Amino acid sequence: MRTVVTGVAGFLGSHVAEALLARGHTVLGVDRRSPDLDETAARNLAGALERPGFRLVVADLNHTPLEPLLDEAVTVYHLAAVPGVRASWGPRFGAYVASNVLATRRVVAACARVRTPRLVFASSSSVYGTTTGLPSREDDPTLPASPYGMTKLAAERLCLAHAREADARTSVVALRYFTLYGPRQRPDMMISRVLRAALTGEPVRVYGDGTQRRDFTYVGDAVAATLAAGAVAARAEAVNVGGGAGVSLRELLDLAAEVTGRPVPVIDDVPQRGDVAVTCADLAKARDLLGHVPATGLAEGLARQWEHLTAAVTG
Ligand code: NAD
Ligand code: UGA
Repeated sequence: MRTVVTGVAGFLGSHVAEALLARGHTVLGVDRRSPDLDETAARNLAGALERPGFRLVVADLNHTPLEPLLDEAVTVYHLAAVPGVRASWGPRFGAYVASNVLATRRVVAACARVRTPRLVFASSSSVYGTTTGLPSREDDPTLPASPYGMTKLAAERLCLAHAREADARTSVVALRYFTLYGPRQRPDMMISRVLRAALTGEPVRVYGDGTQRRDFTYVGDAVAATLAAGAVAARAEAVNVGGGAGVSLRELLDLAAEVTGRPVPVIDDVPQRGDVAVTCADLAKARDLLGHVPATGLAEGLARQWEHLTAAVTG
């Protein structure tokens, strides 16, 4: 079956593409980062590029004609975005709006025109923001605490509005991922930085008092939920994808020292704007709709990311 993965040169996109290829699907991957020019894209895409069922199109979703790319795809996994909570307050806000909102509008409109049966959209736990009541359920109010969260909520709402139209041909499952980690995690993210600190001895900055809690989700579990979302019966649904066992940053640091067998040097830093105190997913809907039950605990997932990091450095 033919599938399209946008953001394929990224952390999540490259894993989703590999999993689809392993299941015998063909994958047309789209990303504006070229593996010929960008080292991260080259590393992320190394596995997919070896597979005969994979084709890469290097293009910006805001500029390239989309219909020829999406035509005949059974499922479009729209994962491309400018991610990251903290940087979204800065001068790149326009880039967030362009990739997260305007490009998503182009993708969902093109899906409608070519009658793509299913669009899976990468939403985010950051749509909940500072809403009260934990764990977060999909029908809770949304109150994004950052410009990034606002763009993800706008894009999610846009996709779902298209899918709810009376004559809609494209159904949508929007997955609200909770802080993903694992091999190839983005270098700006906490676990990447913690493991790099263990490796190099260069301290990681802890923003605030380190009591923030995150429902860290192993990328392999998120990929399984993502592939399931491509196939389940649904018309217009938002679904949490969480790891099932949240920890504080302090607990994370202790666990990382244990897993790596090395000290993790830290520097205390000021709290960051838009950093929510706790994320915690209610996983009932994910279990019922997607069969999502997280299988990888944090110690095991950290060990895999550490193994991947040390292998990349030594070899
Ligand atoms: P990533 O930055 O590693 O990957 C995103 C990819 O999208 C990049 O390769 C980038 O080049 C591409 N891209 C961005 N704008 C584009 C455009 N206009 N045209 C073509 N390509 C474009 O990010 P990630 O961590 O893999 O996140 C993937 C998706 O999951 C994003 O939508 C993100 O918002 C969402 N998400 C991620 C997390 C997480 O913890 N990583 C959590 C919640 C949601
Ligand atoms: C992550 C992703 O970056 C977003 O793209 C995604 O949408 C979001 O998860 C989500 O779940 O929706 P975040 O939770 O901020 O955002 O993930 P990290 O960057 O790994 O940060 C986790 C915690 O560690 C935050 O409290 C952050 O302030 C803290 N942190 C991060 C530090 O203390 N120091 C650092 O150097 C980096």
